[in-house]
Amino acid sequence: MDSKLEIAETFRRENCATFFHGNCVDMLKTLPTACAQLVVTSPPYNVGKEYEESTTVEKYLEFQELVIKECIRILRPGGSICWQLGTHTNGQNLVLPLDLLVHPVFATYFKTDNLRLRNRIIWTFEHGLNCNNRFSGRYETILWYSKGDDYTFDLNAVRVPQKYPGKRAFKGKRKGQFTSNPLGKNPGDVWSLPNVKANHVEKTGHPCQFPIELPERLILALTKKGDLVVDPFLGSGTTAIASIANGRKVAGADIKLKYLKIARSRVSQFIEGTLKRRPYGKPIFEPPPNTTLTTNPFKQLERQMH
Ligand SMILES: C[S@@+](CC[C@H](N)C(=O)[O-])C[C@H]1O[C@@H](n2cnc3c(N)ncnc32)[C@H](O)[C@@H]1O
Repeated sequence: MDSKLEIAETFRRENCATFFHGNCVDMLKTLPTACAQLVVTSPPYNVGKEYEESTTVEKYLEFQELVIKECIRILRPGGSICWQLGTHTNGQNLVLPLDLLVHPVFATYFKTDNLRLRNRIIWTFEHGLNCNNRFSGRYETILWYSKGDDYTFDLNAVRVPQKYPGKRAFKGKRKGQFTSNPLGKNPGDVWSLPNVKANHVEKTGHPCQFPIELPERLILALTKKGDLVVDPFLGSGTTAIASIANGRKVAGADIKLKYLKIARSRVSQFIEGTLKRRPYGKPIFEPPPNTTLTTNPFKQLERQMH
C-alpha cells in the first residue's frame, strides 16, 4: 500500500480515489460511459436525516431515477449495481420498504441494458429503533443487479466457514471425501452484520454509516483488483475504505463537505494503519448461555426469590 494516497476532486481514469463535493448526478455526468465495474451505495431514505430534505415519495423517486439512469450508463457490461435500502416512514401510517419502490426503476433497464436482478440480500442486525405499535425493523436490503449474463462473481473470495468443516462421508461413492466444500460455504443472501451504532468500532460523526464489511463483501465478489468502484452517496467513505483496502479504484460524491472530510480522514487513517475496523468475517457476538445481566430486572427478581 502507498504511504500516501492522493484523493482527487474531479474524475480521471487514472485516479486511485476521487471524492467529488456536490450533487452525485453532476459527478456521475463527468464519468465516461462503461467505466465502472461496480456501483455500490446507500442513498438517503427520505426520513428527515440531517443530510436530506424531506420530500414527497414521487419527488424522491424522480431523483432516484436520475441517479440510477447515470449509474446504468457508467456501468460496464459484466459489472454490477448494489443498491442498499431501508424503509421510508412518515411517522404516521406510511411504511414503505424502499426496495419495493425502486426495483421497478431498475426493471425498466432489463430489456434495454440487459440488467438482471441477481439477489435481494437481507442485511440483518440486532439493534435499532424500538417500535411500540409494530415489530421493530431489524433488516435492510441490498438489491444486486448485473449488467448482462456474463458477469463477474468470485464466490471463492467471499466463502464463509462451514459449520462442520472436517466432516467426511462415511459410506457410498463419496466415502472418505469432504461432505462440504473445504474452502467454505456460500454466504447466502441473509447477512448478519452489526449496524454502526454509537459503540461500534467504526463509528464516525456520520449518522448513517454502513459497516465496512458490507461493501467489502460485494467488492471482493463482484470486482477484480484495479477495477473502478463508484459510490454516488459516499457519506463517511465506507465504500472508499473497502475499495482502497482491496486494491480497487474508487470514485464517490457527497453533497455535504463535512462528510467528505470524515471520509478523507478515514482514508488517511487507513493508509497510516490506524483506522479501527471490525475484522472481516468476525462472528457475531453471542452471550454465553446463562449469562445474567445485572440490569435485567427479571433475573434480579429471580435471585431475590432464591
Ligand atoms: C445513507 S448516507 C450514506 C452513508 C455511507 N454509506 C457511509 O457508510 O457513510 C447518504 C449520503 O448521501 C449524501 N447525499 C444526499 N443527497 C445527495 C446528493 N444529491 N448527492 C450526493 N450525496 C448526497 C448525504 O449527505 C449522506 O452522506
